[in-house]
Amino acid sequence: MASPYLKTLLPYSPGKPIEEVEREYGVAGAAKLASNENPFGPSPLAVKAIQEAAAAVHRYPDGAGTALKAHLAERLGVASAQIALGNGSNELLELAARIFLQPGDEAVMAQPAFIVYRMVCQALGAVAVEVPCRDFVHDLPGMAAVVSARTKLLFVGNPNNPTGTAVPPAALEAFVRRLPPEPLLVLDEAYWEFLPERERPRSLDWVREGRRCFVLRTFSKIYGLAGLRVGYGIGPPELIGLLDRLRAPFNVNALAQGAAAAALEDRAHVDRTVAGTAEGRTALTAGLAALGLPAVQSVTNFLLVDVRRNGAAVAEALLRRGVIVRPMGGYGLPTHLRITVGTAAENARALDALGAVLGA
Ligand SMILES: Cc1ncc(COP(=O)(O)O)c(C=O)c1O
Repeated sequence: MASPYLKTLLPYSPGKPIEEVEREYGVAGAAKLASNENPFGPSPLAVKAIQEAAAAVHRYPDGAGTALKAHLAERLGVASAQIALGNGSNELLELAARIFLQPGDEAVMAQPAFIVYRMVCQALGAVAVEVPCRDFVHDLPGMAAVVSARTKLLFVGNPNNPTGTAVPPAALEAFVRRLPPEPLLVLDEAYWEFLPERERPRSLDWVREGRRCFVLRTFSKIYGLAGLRVGYGIGPPELIGLLDRLRAPFNVNALAQGAAAAALEDRAHVDRTVAGTAEGRTALTAGLAALGLPAVQSVTNFLLVDVRRNGAAVAEALLRRGVIVRPMGGYGLPTHLRITVGTAAENARALDALGAVLGA
């Protein structure tokens, strides 16, 4: 009786939780470098807001997310009516797909790209048209070339997960300007805050100009609030109206709304995270190179690295040493691992463990 489209769909495979690895493998102080979380923790202002909001959790949250949306609108220079909140940006990816995709419709995306793009299409019987990256970077002309009358959505992760690369702003601008008006461009900017100013595209301008563009961002990465599940999208008010019809009435919980608003205020926390990530990324890249493993040059808080042997087996061996990374077989990269940049201690532990595993 279930939808036939679900038959071929495998459940999303998240990074293993720390406690589970410690219990299963009998290790202590495991380093989780598998989900591109902020290893430095949340903003203390966000933690305080959670504590304050906790006393009122007998009430439903503000279903419209009014205060958080107003905060974001002011920060981003858009109207509240152009903002949607989601239970993580993941929910917004899924809702966008449910709004636009019917069986047989097409959605264009890169390969490799965040696996959820493909999953949300598959679940609806839509066709994921995957365009191989070139040197791990989106092939935008290649993607533009496969847009057809059946294309309803285009997914561009910029920066892209799992490659860690971004397209040059001018190239993205040219791509956006040449797109036909019909398909919705879902521009997933989960790692946008890690980009240096000059590498950030003018994505919100495209929304302001009234283009069919839905820009997704999240509090899970730089803001360190992954456990609360809160993300947001900026798009045309008509799209936000459709999302409001489809989403669950209280999709973003009260603690998440309070913490997110507080996190936006803590620019020092963001700056510390950017600096700590850049430092860790340099150390991890150098350490991998010293092991003979060049990583794809990343602008994010994670590295994609070819270990030149079965990635799943290496990831399993690392688990035994208390280091959790993500094997990339599901992304069509059976010899690659994706390693999140951790704290200095976590990065050192990961490099030690990798050296031991590869040397063994
Ligand atoms: C590219 C990309 N988009 C979206 C998400 C979803 O993030 P969240 O649902 O936590 O906002 C992730 C999480 O890893 C991601 O890497």
